[in-house]
Amino acid sequence: MKAISFAGALTLATMAFAGDPASPPPLPLGLSPQLYQLTVPKPPTPAQVALGEKLFNDQRLSADDSVSCATCHDPAKAFADGKPRAVGIKDQVGQRNSPTVLNALFLATQFWDGRAGTLEDQAKLPILNPIEMGMPSPDAVVTKVRAIPEYRDAFQKLNGREATYDDIASAIASFERTRLSGNARFDRFLAGDSKALSQQEKRGWALFNGKGRCNSCHAGNAVSPLFSDQKFHNIGIAAHKQDFVQLASEALRVVRAGDEEQIDRLALESKLSELGRFLVTRHENDIGGFKTPTLRNTGVTGPYMHDGSLATLWDVMDHYNKGGIPNPFLDGGMQRLGLTEPEIDDLVAFLYALTSDDFQALEKKELASQRARKNNRPERDTAVALGKKGHLGDLAPNPDIKNPADLGLYGPVAAPEK
Ligand code: HEC
Ligand code: HEC
Repeated sequence: MKAISFAGALTLATMAFAGDPASPPPLPLGLSPQLYQLTVPKPPTPAQVALGEKLFNDQRLSADDSVSCATCHDPAKAFADGKPRAVGIKDQVGQRNSPTVLNALFLATQFWDGRAGTLEDQAKLPILNPIEMGMPSPDAVVTKVRAIPEYRDAFQKLNGREATYDDIASAIASFERTRLSGNARFDRFLAGDSKALSQQEKRGWALFNGKGRCNSCHAGNAVSPLFSDQKFHNIGIAAHKQDFVQLASEALRVVRAGDEEQIDRLALESKLSELGRFLVTRHENDIGGFKTPTLRNTGVTGPYMHDGSLATLWDVMDHYNKGGIPNPFLDGGMQRLGLTEPEIDDLVAFLYALTSDDFQALEKKELASQRARKNNRPERDTAVALGKKGHLGDLAPNPDIKNPADLGLYGPVAAPEK
């Protein structure tokens, strides 16, 4: 039954692009054909992808020809930029960290606060944002692109007309729909190669699903290959730094519901940025809520969090270990974890096992630089983490290391060694 409808959809896709047939690309290990088929019912054609890639890398899409999408989503840096917060034209620094574009096609919403629903809608915003690419209007972009002969020809050939702003966004989105990432050590482990992970990485995976409780928001498996529930949570990164009641009432006064361009500017340029998902929904329980990011390639896409405020994965672990930072909107899923230092090392090792083989050299470099900072731990609060101080709820009991189920291991997969 499934196979028939899959083939049917393929035929339709092929018919739609009769002149330029496109077939599903070979998928990296870890991404299922079913998920791809659901997400991309009509794979983009090679011509769309090539044009989109050119646009993605073209600094002429910015006001002063200095910034392209790739400036902040650098293919050599796993489509992130390695900076705490993104830097646009004239060296202007925004409020938020650049997330990777890899696997963004699978996201239910785009941006840390989900303010754009599709890759097409997303792509239209940074080009116009004054501190990112700074173009004054969609018309100005269209005029500029139409005047470049290579684009004139390419768009004519592709659509039989001159480029529109929608056409430009659509080409870029087509390219992004080919940015798939899998092929991590973890994927080989899940596919049955029990030697693909070291003992330490296996212990980390067990802690991820067990004592660390990471899987309550970052579950990873065949149907959820991004390690994200795609929901929004306040994990205590933002909401404690300001008076949220005041900030939220200010937002209610200025935000025009549904105006994506306005919300884009507030999110990147104003202190209202810290309200997160609230700017989009105006629901009180979304204050300081941000989208659970993918954990694929996370070892090579630091610094971390929506504001790039945590430098290393050890800092991230210290943040979770103490139960986040208390604030009235903190997600109920945040609590002290009581992880020991070796357990933190195990979890970090596991996170590094989610790096795609495409970035082995980068992984080596990033891991070395994070390790070098391991003794500088501004987020660490061992007393709170271990339940010796503070009132953040009960610590979970220490798991019985000999009982795999206690650690979150299901089935006979490698019980962690002592
Ligand atoms: C100046 C740096 C910068 C430039 C230029 C830029 N981006 Fe981004 N990008 C960001 C930042 C920062 C975010 C997160 C902003 C937010 O969530 O508020 C982001 C978010 C995204 C996302 C959402 C990913 C997710 O996990 O939700 C996609 C997709 C994306 N950008 C693609 C593009 C494309 C396509 C272009 C070019 C048209 C582009 N970006 C230009 C910095 C940049
Ligand atoms: C309650 C849900 C929740 C739980 C539990 C949780 N996370 Fe997160 N995680 C998030 C959200 C939401 C963010 C982004 C928060 C922000 O930027 O304000 C995030 C961010 C991260 C990041 C940063 C990624 C990046 O690209 O910046 C890492 C790494 C991470 N989490 C790992 C973990 C690990 C490891 C655990 C378990 C110890 C864990 N998370 C538990 C929801 C959760």
